[in-house]
Amino acid sequence: MEQLEKAQKNKLDLSKIDEILRQYDYKKSNLIAVLQKVQEFYKYLPEDAMTYVAVKMNISPASVYGVATFYSQFSLDPKGKYEIKICDGTACHVRGSMPVLNAVRKRFNLSERKITTDNMLVTVETVSCLGACGLAPVVVINDKVYPQMTPDAMKIVLDTLLKEENEG
Ligand code: FES
Repeated sequence: MEQLEKAQKNKLDLSKIDEILRQYDYKKSNLIAVLQKVQEFYKYLPEDAMTYVAVKMNISPASVYGVATFYSQFSLDPKGKYEIKICDGTACHVRGSMPVLNAVRKRFNLSERKITTDNMLVTVETVSCLGACGLAPVVVINDKVYPQMTPDAMKIVLDTLLKEENEG
């Protein structure tokens, strides 16, 4: 119960989680689906949200955490407003995804270990084959696909994106 109070104190919008739990009948067998929905809402799985789910579903928080860390679809870290995914599957790698990745990381002062900017604007990740190898190297920014990227082409894309962001 102490964990539950902590989650509530941290002011997460738990009403949304209640709604999701109701939708899935609080059934333990629906845990993955519940976590997927929670992640859809927060864009990641906040620790307090996982604790809340555990308490409400009568599962130990360690088990929920175990499931969340086992599946790569779940992220335990908050993501930036713009999620930049750079494909590093074989086709993209061979056609130069790494220089694109390095250019993007450099621009935002990010690295393999630090993937999100402090202002939560951008997260940069590599992903495996996106199934669009004919367009390699491929970059996806919040579901929009950018084909045949080069460091220069990426610079133009990011300049445009940041300009739009600044203009609000
Ligand atoms: S390897 Fe990048 S889309 Fe297939």
